[in-house]
Order: sequence, then C-alpha cells, then structure tokens
Amino acid sequence: MSGPVSGEPVRVLFVCLGNICRSPTAEGVMRELVGREGLQGAIVVDSAGTGAWHVGSPPDARAAEAARARGVALAGTARQVRPQDFEDFDYLVAMDGENVRALRSLAQGEDERSKVRLLREFDPASADGAEGAGDLDVPDPYYGGADGFDEVFELVRAACAGLLEQLRDEAPALRES
Ligand code: 4NP
Repeated sequence: MSGPVSGEPVRVLFVCLGNICRSPTAEGVMRELVGREGLQGAIVVDSAGTGAWHVGSPPDARAAEAARARGVALAGTARQVRPQDFEDFDYLVAMDGENVRALRSLAQGEDERSKVRLLREFDPASADGAEGAGDLDVPDPYYGGADGFDEVFELVRAACAGLLEQLRDEAPALRES
C-alpha cells in the first residue's frame, strides 16, 4: 500500500447496492474499530452504492437499529460510486459478488480493478480453506426481516476485524499507532 509508508492514510470505501444497509454498517463498524485503536488518522473509511435509487437518504432505520443495539452509530448520506473513487481509495470493499462485478466493470485498467475486494474474504473464519467457506456474500437484507440485519451486522463485524488486521500486516506504521 502506498498510504501509510508515505504518511498518507489508507483509504477504504465500502460498497453495496443501495448504500443504506450493508455498506453504511461496514463503514460504522470499521470507524468504531479504527477509533478504538486510535487509528483515525491512519485509516479513512467511507461508503457508497453501485445503484442510485437511495442517493441522499440516511442509513435504513433497521440497519441503524441493529447497529445501535451493538454500540455502533451509523451515519452519512447515501451516494453512488463514481469513477474518482478508484483514484481516491486504496480498497473498494464490496459486500457481495454482484457488487464486485459492478465495480470491476466501472474500473479503468488493472490497477483500479485490483482495488476491488470482497469484504468477507477478510473474515478469518470464512477465508480460503476455513471450515464453512463457500458463499462469501453479505446477504442483501433489504426485503427481509430484522434478523437479516442482525446477521449482516455480525458478518460485517467479523470481516472488518479481519480487514483491520490485514491493514496492520500490510502497513507496519499502523502497528505503532
Ligand atoms: P444495501 O441494501 O445494498 O445493503 O444498501 C439495499 C437497499 C435498497 C435496495 C436493495 C438493497 N433496493 O432495491 O432499493
């Protein structure tokens, strides 16, 4: 990563379809983890959606409630992914395979394509070879019930913890913070 070596923060953009459920949850969880570790200046997080239906909306109330119940505040206003994001962020971390495909089709060239990752690849419990590996999607909770939002939160929390560890491994400067 170029960021921490040069004193610049690592920039992570979480991406889902609508930017009102899953990616704001990931942004809120990661911001909480980063704050707890005192890494606010070293890791910058944001979120966006591949679709435009909810642009300007706050996080979905059900996602906000699932997070609030676990001590995480969701914030922000939905926006759509834009080409500049591939320059502004080091990682574009997608919630599911459909988001990955949408992002890859927006990316210009291999450098930008290589910034696109799937969130749950960072969850040590679901990574390559781990028991239970397989479907690495964070399922879309929008048309389901409250338990879907609880599941999203837990999947996102496990994966964000793994992502933070990976960023530390890649950027020794983050370990001293
Ligand atoms: P998200 O959830 O991608 O996690 O924000 C969705 C929000 C809205 C819709 C689909 C998924 N929608 O179809 O409007």
